[in-house]
Amino acid sequence: MTNRPSDQAPANGGAPPAVTVLAIESSCDETAVAVMRGRESLLSAVVASQIDAHRPFGGVVPELASRQHNAATPGLLATALSDAGIAVSDIDVFAATAGPGLASSLLVGNTTAKALALACDRPFLAINHLEGHLLSPFFGEAGGVRPNVSLVVSGGHTMLVDVADVGEYDLLGRSRDDAAGEAFDKVAKMLGLPYPGGPLIDEMAKDGSPAAYDFPRSMMKKPGFEFSFSGLKTSVRYLTDTFDQSKRDEWLPDVCASFQQAVVDVLVAKTLRAARATGRNLITVSGGVCCNSRLRSEMERACTDAGLELKIAAPSLSTDNAAMIAYVAHEHNLIGRSSSLDSDVDPNLPLTNQANRA
Ligand code: KG4
Ligand code: ZN
Repeated sequence: MTNRPSDQAPANGGAPPAVTVLAIESSCDETAVAVMRGRESLLSAVVASQIDAHRPFGGVVPELASRQHNAATPGLLATALSDAGIAVSDIDVFAATAGPGLASSLLVGNTTAKALALACDRPFLAINHLEGHLLSPFFGEAGGVRPNVSLVVSGGHTMLVDVADVGEYDLLGRSRDDAAGEAFDKVAKMLGLPYPGGPLIDEMAKDGSPAAYDFPRSMMKKPGFEFSFSGLKTSVRYLTDTFDQSKRDEWLPDVCASFQQAVVDVLVAKTLRAARATGRNLITVSGGVCCNSRLRSEMERACTDAGLELKIAAPSLSTDNAAMIAYVAHEHNLIGRSSSLDSDVDPNLPLTNQANRA
């Protein structure tokens, strides 16, 4: 058995003890299991994507998702443990995503992790999926989380958060309607591209001009840190409805590039504004949409111009995965947190300031 949290003294110059965490992520359409030792060592990470199962429906079907999680979880657990070269009895802490997400999907990973914690007599940690994204840019860094302004851009959420430390979060603003990834996926569907459309729009946009069409930059001129993407989606529809559909191949790259630029402009401007307002000199970006090539390059350019440090989550940690959940569980365990086996999943779990939680 590896060291238990309570057994350990920081004999290695004050570095945190090497606790082994197994985490399960099942909040939406990816089942994932990861095993992590300490803050820096990812022993294994496996993901089973359900994209092919949901594609015929153009989006995630909750009932189908939970059944797929049920079917995939036992095999993924076995693979994650064998890839890590350890037995389940070597795990010090079991963790699972508790929300936000689809209730019936969250229950699969949550119940499995709780059952393992109970059977192995180890602590259980319920983790917020958004906190997984939020802290993922620090994954593998020996020094852990540093104060930063964080842009989380996924299929379900778009938010700007001031991060003082692990568990100390101040929500600066979020999208009033569609998340950025949702806007990418809905516009892609409208343009006849398969689900999930974000990566396809990114690809198509490489052959188009971002200045071809002047789509609205919603909320850009308004003070504050809120976003809105539903008007942009409607503008794309109104414009393309007037186009000759038999010439779709000719106008599609320009529409994709111009739509993408409108999203990226707002995300970059508001994030830089948040850094100025909070005085943070580190910006982090996470969530599936941070894979977007234009967002990455424009954010890099803007941060260089403003003299700010930028950390973007690695692509393998950007879309849903369990390594980011294991990382947060590791940090929570370090500061002595654990969750009750009676704790419930919460489809709308907010990203609260846990330092102030009773
Ligand atoms: O973080 P994630 O895996 O799931 C949620 O927690 O929502 O994010 C998935 C989202 C999808 O909307 C997908 O279209 C988007 O991330 N996405 C992208 C790109 N890669 C993934 N959007 C734009 N450009 C990309 N390259
Ligand atoms: Zn996510």
